[in-house]
Amino acid sequence: MTVAEVTQVFLDSEQYSSNSILNYEAVYGEDFVSPGGRTLARELIARLRLKQGAKVLDVGCGLGGSAFLMAREFGFRVDGIDLSANMIEMARSKLKAHKIEDRVCLELGNCLELNRQRSYDGIYSRDVFLHIQDKARLFKKLHNALKPQGRLLFTDYCCSEKPWSEDFSRYVEGRSYFLNTLPEYTEVISDAGFCDIQCNDWTDRFIDILHGDLHTISGLEIEQAAKQKLKLGWREKLARAESGFHKWGLFTAIRR
Ligand SMILES: C[S@@+](CC[C@H](N)C(=O)[O-])C[C@H]1O[C@@H](n2cnc3c(N)ncnc32)[C@H](O)[C@@H]1O
Repeated sequence: MTVAEVTQVFLDSEQYSSNSILNYEAVYGEDFVSPGGRTLARELIARLRLKQGAKVLDVGCGLGGSAFLMAREFGFRVDGIDLSANMIEMARSKLKAHKIEDRVCLELGNCLELNRQRSYDGIYSRDVFLHIQDKARLFKKLHNALKPQGRLLFTDYCCSEKPWSEDFSRYVEGRSYFLNTLPEYTEVISDAGFCDIQCNDWTDRFIDILHGDLHTISGLEIEQAAKQKLKLGWREKLARAESGFHKWGLFTAIRR
């Protein structure tokens, strides 16, 4: 099996098993699997500052929530790509129900294998790159896929400089995450040829979102045991962010 195939099997059987996806969706809101759900997605899509009719790639589109918003509320034409077969299968059935197949195209694939030259006005990605080790290759691929002056916007889990606590190291290893500090991210984005790079430490905002999520979890009508498990997971997430080891970043950049 190739590395991508191993990663796909890992994602589909572990973090993004069908059951886990449904749990995430219950917390983040319909069609979303990332912090801030629909409300934050709308705010961030607006930050792309693209015109109606713009062509956008949603990297790691998950259940398609952002792609659907971009098409319906912003008038973009969207390609979504995701490495998890579970995600893409669920996203495609949602797309059919939304009846916007003429404006959104969803594909099962690895963004590290993207081979689209100068195709997009914008690339948007939410909390995906934590799964990817080879960030240099990733940003080269994204740079090539953008048209000149095309815009990149993404959020991602980041980290503090090492040394980390044992608890945080165990968490990162257990999830097979590849986290970067915010300055490391800025450097690798710049090395790929992007300019006007803006790097924002949004950890405080992440913490606020996690508090809101805990409130949402309390109100979920699910079995008590499942609710307790979700609460525990979110409290641990909050503790990691409050400890300073786990950071959250918003990045924007432009292709030269
Ligand atoms: C936390 S989820 C976020 C999903 C979506 N962006 C959202 O905001 O709801 C991360 C997604 O990244 C996808 N992913 C991970 N590695 C990938 C890769 N190499 N290429 C494409 N997608 C990938 C996962 O399958 C998963 O759907």
